[in-house]
Amino acid sequence: MYTERVMDHFMNPRNMGEIPDADGVGTVGNPVCGDLMTVYIKVKDNRLKDVKFKTFGCGAAIATSSMITELAKGKTLEEGLKITRVDVADNLGGLPPVKMHCSNLAADALHSAIEDFKKKELKK
Ligand code: FES
Repeated sequence: MYTERVMDHFMNPRNMGEIPDADGVGTVGNPVCGDLMTVYIKVKDNRLKDVKFKTFGCGAAIATSSMITELAKGKTLEEGLKITRVDVADNLGGLPPVKMHCSNLAADALHSAIEDFKKKELKK
């Protein structure tokens, strides 16, 4: 039911953990299952220099977060905001339909972390 890529990112998640001095942090909850996700970003010259995540989500949430950190690193903030849950699922070779809602967490938390960074910049 899961692709090999999903299993790989679930078993060996990339960039899992926290960035203590993050420039932006986004935490979102999944309305479907109640699970939580936090994404931390470091920004340099308008680019996502580092991206990490922590989740209280299922295996699909772990795999999609792991994938989104890889997709987002090195991208500009504008490009990061354009990464959708469909991009994440496509790069994992697809997700079972009942698990598509899990990929919302990763994309929403990344977008929220970028918005958090922008808000903090405005206050500077
Ligand atoms: Fe909640 Fe997957 S079941 S994130």
